[in-house]
Amino acid sequence: MTDADINQDQKEFWNGQGGSSWVSGQEEMDRFLAPFTEQLMVHAAPADGQRVLDIGCGTGDTSLRAASAVGAAGAVHGVDISQPMLELARTRAKDARAAHATFALGDAQTDTLGDAADLVISRFGVMFFEQPVAAFKNIHAHTKPGGRMVFVCWQPVRENEWVHIGLGIAKKHVAFPPPPDPHAPGPFAFADIERTLGILGDAGWSNASAEPFAAKLNQGSSAQAAAESLMLRGPISRVMMDKTDAEKAAVMSDLTDAMTAKITDGQVMLGAGVWIVSATA
Ligand SMILES: C[S@@+](CC[C@H](N)C(=O)[O-])C[C@H]1O[C@@H](n2cnc3c(N)ncnc32)[C@H](O)[C@@H]1O
Repeated sequence: MTDADINQDQKEFWNGQGGSSWVSGQEEMDRFLAPFTEQLMVHAAPADGQRVLDIGCGTGDTSLRAASAVGAAGAVHGVDISQPMLELARTRAKDARAAHATFALGDAQTDTLGDAADLVISRFGVMFFEQPVAAFKNIHAHTKPGGRMVFVCWQPVRENEWVHIGLGIAKKHVAFPPPPDPHAPGPFAFADIERTLGILGDAGWSNASAEPFAAKLNQGSSAQAAAESLMLRGPISRVMMDKTDAEKAAVMSDLTDAMTAKITDGQVMLGAGVWIVSATA
């Protein structure tokens, strides 16, 4: 296997439907994920003049937040395998006049990640590696000795209402494939936190630790729009991708009812839980 073959499924997904739905829903996704962005920034605390590496930076929200914290004397480098998401990140950096935020197409597991960083951050961008130990060794090699890494990853599905409500509904309407390997690349690959901390240790990181954090995520004021968004960008999207229009319509209808039941003060609010993971190079 050559480096080009590694993470091929993820490269296809994030340059196809996965990437285009995150690009079209960028504002919504950034609003939805805002509580975790705040936590990431509080724990990572990027400081004036630092060089920050953003792994799986996507459309650049966390890169731009870090760029504003480190100032023009510092630098932020976002790396991602998704060409369409990076294009939007570059446009946003230009609009924000953040020339010290740069972006590169690259696989964090195999490719060069630029000059050594003082701080590595990631908002849900590190759970998609075929060989996580190799990936975190590569990230370690691009971090200054004593530099820090802080990332957020999802807790198990049962702690994430925004996922299990939709999957529960879909199960009533369509046949599900056998449950995947819980550690396979995907949003919940790092939910088993003891294993995740072990991966970091095996990859050469020190002082690996994790804090749980729970929040209610704002899915907007419309139950129908919330259901559409989950169908398009949530884990349910991969389950429903190849289903018939009638099956999709049946799931959408039940999901819209479920979202209506979750409206509090005019907003659809869904429970979610993450790990905030820190380690030292
Ligand atoms: C759930 S999205 C999060 C994007 C962004 N961090 C955010 O919060 O908006 C996961 C991101 O990880 C990227 N990704 C997946 N595997 C990767 C890899 N091996 N190297 C670099 N980026 C990767 C995807 O392309 C995608 O942009």
